[in-house]
Amino acid sequence: MVKKNTCVFISGKGSNLKSLILNTREYNFPINIKLVITNNPSAEGIIHAKKNNIPFLLINTKKNNFENIILNKIKEHKISLICLAGYMKIISKNFINNFRKKIINIHPSLLPKFKGLNTFERILKENEKKTGCTIHAIDEKLDAGKIINQKFFFINSNDTAKDLKNKTQKLEYRAFPEAIIKIYRYN
Ligand code: GRF
Repeated sequence: MVKKNTCVFISGKGSNLKSLILNTREYNFPINIKLVITNNPSAEGIIHAKKNNIPFLLINTKKNNFENIILNKIKEHKISLICLAGYMKIISKNFINNFRKKIINIHPSLLPKFKGLNTFERILKENEKKTGCTIHAIDEKLDAGKIINQKFFFINSNDTAKDLKNKTQKLEYRAFPEAIIKIYRYN
C-alpha cells in the first residue's frame, strides 16, 4: 500500500499530531506524516516532529507571501493531504484553490453547533446535553465543510470547561485517524 504524504499544521500542544504519528506506525494506516508546519515558535507540538525526525517548518505569518512559502514546501514534499490539528490561522481561499487536494480540520464540538472559538464555555452556557468533536473537510467557510467523522459523549452536570476539553480530546485521538481511514477507503 502506498501511503499518502501528509502535512500536519499545528499551533499549540500537538497532542493530535502525536496521536496521528502513533497511528502512522500501523502498516495499513493510509498516510505518512512528511511535514509539520506551525505558525507558533513556542508550539509545544514541535517536539513530536523533532522526536520522530519529521521535517518541520516554522512560518512567519506576518510575511505577506507566507502562504506561498507553505505551498512551495508542500509541493516539494509531494503532500496530498493537509490535516489542520489545532492550527489557529484561517486558511485563505487562494491557498485552498492552489493546493487543490484534501484539507481536513478537527473542531472540538459537534458541528454545525458551536463553530469558532471558546467552544467549551459556550457549550456549558447553552446547557447542552452532549458534545464531542468533528473532523470536516475545509472549504472557504470557517468550520463549514463536509463532515467526515464525529464522536460524542454526554455532559455531566458538574463538568467544567476543562473537563469538557479533556473528554473531547480523548475522543479526538480516535476520531481523527478514523476520518483519515474513511477518506481513503471510499476514494
Ligand atoms: C483540539 O482540541 C482541536 O479540536 C482544536 O485544537 C485542539 C488542538 O489540540 N482545533 P492539540 O494541539 O492537538 O493538543
